[in-house]
Amino acid sequence: MNILILGGGGREHALAWAVMQNPKCDKLIVAPGNAGIAQIAECASLDIENGAAVVNFCDANAIDFIIIGPEAPLAAGVGDRLRDAGFLVFGPSGAAARLEASKHFTKEICDAAGAPTAGYAHFTDAESAKAHVREAGAPIVVKADGLAAGKGVIVAETEDQAMAAIDDMFGGEFGAAGAEVVIEEFMTGEEASFFVLCDGETALPIGTAQDHKRVGEGDTGPNTGGMGAYSPAPVLTDAVAQKALRDIIEPTLREMAKRGTPYQGVLYAGLMIENGQPRLVEYNARFGDPECQVLMMRLGAQALDLMQAAAEGRLAECSVNWADDHAMTVVMAAKGYPGAYEKGSVIRGLDDCAEDSFHMVFHAGTAEVDGRIVASGGRVLNVTARGASLEQARDRAYAMVDRIEWPEGFCRRDIGWRAL
Ligand code: AMP
Ligand code: GLY
Repeated sequence: MNILILGGGGREHALAWAVMQNPKCDKLIVAPGNAGIAQIAECASLDIENGAAVVNFCDANAIDFIIIGPEAPLAAGVGDRLRDAGFLVFGPSGAAARLEASKHFTKEICDAAGAPTAGYAHFTDAESAKAHVREAGAPIVVKADGLAAGKGVIVAETEDQAMAAIDDMFGGEFGAAGAEVVIEEFMTGEEASFFVLCDGETALPIGTAQDHKRVGEGDTGPNTGGMGAYSPAPVLTDAVAQKALRDIIEPTLREMAKRGTPYQGVLYAGLMIENGQPRLVEYNARFGDPECQVLMMRLGAQALDLMQAAAEGRLAECSVNWADDHAMTVVMAAKGYPGAYEKGSVIRGLDDCAEDSFHMVFHAGTAEVDGRIVASGGRVLNVTARGASLEQARDRAYAMVDRIEWPEGFCRRDIGWRAL
């Protein structure tokens, strides 16, 4: 099978690593890929949000199966263009990807499906949004409706913060994404991520994880794309997962199918769990990054079979072969991230890190220049390990971190603190 993965971050390196272990894979191309992916697969430059360009590329390279990594090509309908052209694709249609691309749409689906989530109101002008905040009081959560690269959510502790967020959103800070605003009740509890493969009808859980969004140790400082993750997430017990499946995920899938837009791909449910009850915070229409790295470390080669089964509508006949193990990934980022940071610093010591089914350094933002690996982004490496316990996975991951020589980078030393 000739496979194309769209994307070029740590998530796609982990997907490529898992796919390459499956003997079914004859050839793997990743577009655009990165320096780490180039060590295990062919990388190609391609405008991955241009459906026609991707279809042409697949024709020219005899691609049999396409796995779409990030949200932008999904929301742009690249999956639809490929399916129209007869290709097998893992990833939702543009219409189904609205579960990530529009917060208001997701709230409407939850209402129709009876799925537990935060109470909300929806606004298209600042004055009525502010009147709502004055009535409801703080804390309260203000969200830009559309895709805002993870920055469109303000958890306002005071009414003034909420008012400022409303002004920013309607003032155009998030472009078109902020033309509509959803204001939500503030939920308390512990957050965890639940990953489920869907084929339009059947939902198959493939793992749980917890991310670390803040840049600083002890969950302090500004939000980032994620500074580390581990799987499984202890708060998402089997009982909570069953409830989330029955009360949130499956009703969502039924509602999407009823509307003629069945959901196929991975559905990433961000959950808030309090007293054993899960409520939906948000959906994403893709794997989390860096959560995918720990999921792939645990799933290995079967990930390809499962994604193919989702694309072919065969999930009802599949099960996941679980090992009783734990995985952790530590993000190494360029100093300054998530603010301004420099690119181009040289990373050494990567060859001293054993890479096997228990240890992998996935590359997120790297490039190869004159035979050396250099940083080319904010989040740069995802140092990932697996073990019989979370402690063992952590010790293995940080032992690799300590072998990497990169003075211009940093990482959090406390990944996993909640579970450990
Ligand atoms: P989202 O992009 O929707 O995941 O929101 C980003 C983060 O904001 C979430 O991971 C939560 O930590 C927080 N958040 C979003 N909505 C709520 C809510 N209704 N109550 C409490 N926290 C929230
Ligand atoms: N790590 C959070 C996300 O991928 O949305």
